[in-house]
Amino acid sequence: MTVTRQDELDGLKRIGRIVAETMQAMIRAAEPGMTTVELDGIGRALLDAEGAVPAPEATYAFPGATCISVNEEIAHGIPGPRVIAAGDLVNIDVSASKDGFFADTGASFRVPPGDTAQDRLCRDGRRAMEIGIGQVRAGRPLNGIGRAIGRFAEGRGYTLVQNLASHGVGRSLHEYPEGVATWPNPSDRRVIRKGLVLTVEPFLSRGATWAAESGDGWTLMAEPAAPCVQYEHTVVATERGAIVLTQAA
Ligand code: CO
Ligand code: CO
Repeated sequence: MTVTRQDELDGLKRIGRIVAETMQAMIRAAEPGMTTVELDGIGRALLDAEGAVPAPEATYAFPGATCISVNEEIAHGIPGPRVIAAGDLVNIDVSASKDGFFADTGASFRVPPGDTAQDRLCRDGRRAMEIGIGQVRAGRPLNGIGRAIGRFAEGRGYTLVQNLASHGVGRSLHEYPEGVATWPNPSDRRVIRKGLVLTVEPFLSRGATWAAESGDGWTLMAEPAAPCVQYEHTVVATERGAIVLTQAA
């Protein structure tokens, strides 16, 4: 959507705060021995308490309130009986709506104990997202996001998953502009308009370049198999840069 009024910005900030706080509470709660469906239940209860509706379930009949992806899974993992283990690399993606406004956020984290290479991948994954957000400004080319992230990834020897794009959001979970590359895409001539609401969510990896479907119809796997992280914020473009909507209070 394109924000033109203060009440629209306020509505987006409300749902942005809710999904951010839900995701952070889930990350704090994650511990070895817990199943991913238990973790999803914590997220569902928090969204429910705020009067927010899980978006993947409402929009696509996804079998869960949130997406929880572990290790070789990189996105759209279905909450279920999988038990979280020490050392797992976990991604939680929370999107929800309230009063007709949608926001979408995600983050990867490592269940202790730490591992130097994985911890660095997490740090750099967050940095890649921030670099992309730094390119969001009214009047700038949309493909500046992927160009800047691509330069960062290449300079540090990482790969980017090139079939999981960022997207417009706000009045629905996925809307114009669809297919916002977080990798270099010179053929995209679109321009960021003032008030545009979109996600920035690069998938940074040490080898994977593709998200492959698994047999369950939802879960996406890194291809070739390699550690992969995703960080996602929902932002709105202004003439002075991006406002991050998915922030905890
Ligand atoms: Co998301
Ligand atoms: Co998204």
